[in-house]
Amino acid sequence: MMRPLPAKAPAPTTIEEARFAHESEEEFARLLDFYRVRWEYEPRTFPLRHGDDGRILEAFSPDFYLVDLDLYVELTTLRQGLVTDKHRKLRLMTELYPDVQIKLLYKRDYLSLLRKYGVGGFNEHESVSVREVLLSASQIERRVNELGAEITRDYTGKEPLLVGVLKGVTCFMADLMRHIALPLSVDFMSISSYEGDQSGAVRFVQDLGESITERDVLIVEDIVDTGMTLNHLVRQLKAREPASLRVVALLDKRARRIADVPLDYIGFEIPDEFVVGYGLDYAQKFRNLPFVATIRSDSLRDQSSASESE
Ligand code: IMP
Ligand code: MG
Repeated sequence: MMRPLPAKAPAPTTIEEARFAHESEEEFARLLDFYRVRWEYEPRTFPLRHGDDGRILEAFSPDFYLVDLDLYVELTTLRQGLVTDKHRKLRLMTELYPDVQIKLLYKRDYLSLLRKYGVGGFNEHESVSVREVLLSASQIERRVNELGAEITRDYTGKEPLLVGVLKGVTCFMADLMRHIALPLSVDFMSISSYEGDQSGAVRFVQDLGESITERDVLIVEDIVDTGMTLNHLVRQLKAREPASLRVVALLDKRARRIADVPLDYIGFEIPDEFVVGYGLDYAQKFRNLPFVATIRSDSLRDQSSASESE
């Protein structure tokens, strides 16, 4: 196995220190700061190819290292069609450094990541409408029923405390709890979400009403996307020393995972598309749809087809 070059100097770990090559990198760093995910900017160089004389002919320095997640992230603001060279380097990386976890975030991942947090793109005048039903009301009902039965089996003899994160989880929580045939309690919390150019970090806007110490806690999540929200939540709740802590997520957008928090129960794996309905919103709308659907928006199309050089 090859080894990365020793770091020349301590890598920058704050926005003030780092001299970012691109503004998308700074925005990404802000997002990480918000979720208190510690990062280092371009901390390591990985040699990919040596000449006969041992000289390094080709190397790769991923943009970020996420310390707590032990994960390298490479941002690419190039259009997806123009990243073949990065793909090749990434393939070499995984061959030569099989123990190193690295993830490539494309321009479209990156834009949709920011758009999710309301940064860039949408304005209140555009018209957004449902494009396609991804999961029908009856599909959801059947699956939630099954999840309830599984949870009932696993928690027999216990009195779980279901913890939901507002507001997206309302429909799922209401249906799931009615399919768990055990004595249980329910509590909710709400946490702030990233709003772009701001300082500060994720925080509990409304904390739980009861103590979770020594309780069998089951976090109920509507959707896990990058995993950064859940990662933060799990860390916070673990510190309160529950007897057990598990997670049930209705929707798993696995393709976009950055923080790989284990999910104990999953309703559906869904593709990397923004979805609404059954509690999930776009700009606070569509939560009342009885199904889960993708949306259509003109500015969505404009943005993802926009080209930009690195
Ligand atoms: P994460 O921190 O990226 O995993 O984001 C999780 C949160 O983002 C969820 O609890 C949702 O509130 C929101 N979210 C992620 N993807 C979607 C989506 O497709 N539609 C609506 N909300 C979403
Ligand atoms: Mg949520």
